[in-house]
Amino acid sequence: MYEQFSLARRVAFVTGASRGLGYAMAEALGRAGAKIVINARDPVQLAAAAERLRAVGVDAKPRAFDVTDEDACKAAIVAVEREHGRLDILVNNAGANLRGPFLDYKTADFEAMFRVHLQSSFVLSREAARGMVARGFGRIIMTTSVMAKIARPNISGYCAAKAGLESLMRQMAIELGPKGVTVNAIAPGYFLTELNAPLVKDAAFDAMVKGRTPVGRWAEPKELGGPVVFLASDAAAYVNGHTLYVDGGLTASF
Ligand SMILES: NC(=O)c1ccc[n+]([C@@H]2O[C@H](COP(=O)([O-])OP(=O)(O)OC[C@H]3O[C@@H](n4cnc5c(N)ncnc54)[C@H](OP(=O)(O)O)[C@@H]3O)[C@@H](O)[C@H]2O)c1
Repeated sequence: MYEQFSLARRVAFVTGASRGLGYAMAEALGRAGAKIVINARDPVQLAAAAERLRAVGVDAKPRAFDVTDEDACKAAIVAVEREHGRLDILVNNAGANLRGPFLDYKTADFEAMFRVHLQSSFVLSREAARGMVARGFGRIIMTTSVMAKIARPNISGYCAAKAGLESLMRQMAIELGPKGVTVNAIAPGYFLTELNAPLVKDAAFDAMVKGRTPVGRWAEPKELGGPVVFLASDAAAYVNGHTLYVDGGLTASF
């Protein structure tokens, strides 16, 4: 591997990594040499995911908790730093989607979207950044979405939370950049994961994705591997406050 992309001796923590995009990013970071701690709520699925990662040679450990639980977030960062002596890379990826028409969208659902995408990333980033700043090195990467920039019906809470996360990323980038910590976002387009299961099954939606995305297809989760390794690596030392769209050209299209 080109040495600038090596993550040897790095420690990475990826939330929402028992499946889907988080799992794929954890695998890529691990294959690039980092020690990995993965998170999700379901401890059984998470342990199985860590086992699958170890089976392909990735040094992976599970840490099950709900990212909307502030105390659990704080305890997780402390535990990772105690166990590994450092935390270099944080990927704030855990997420979900609550769908519904705007006119009927529940305030509780809007708040849930805010908590799982935005507030959890704020808390984990703040806790992780303290140690990163003290050590003079850190990489924080947010999984946002093309829906931070464009919109479609029935996901008002999701769109607003992802746009807020992108704004938080930029704010952190300017405040932490001078202290050796870069902060960036990956904005995926349409990926084949459980999150999108209802959409994949919908023939009209499937046709819309294939028609609207210039590369003409859904993406596989492993297609986030290269982007996340790049942003976590020395190769991206001067990339800060940036959103990397991994969307097959969707947002370049009208
Ligand atoms: N798939 C796409 O096309 C797409 C596009 C743009 C952005 N994204 C974003 O990418 C991220 C991952 O999505 P995905 O498609 O990989 O979804 P997914 O397949 O549903 O996986 C979500 C992961 O997050 C975990 N999770 C959910 N809520 C959590 C919580 N409160 N605390 C801790 N872990 C939690 C899940 O495990 P548990 O259920 O066990 O907690 C699971 O590991 C999300 O932020 C999503 O918004 C996805």
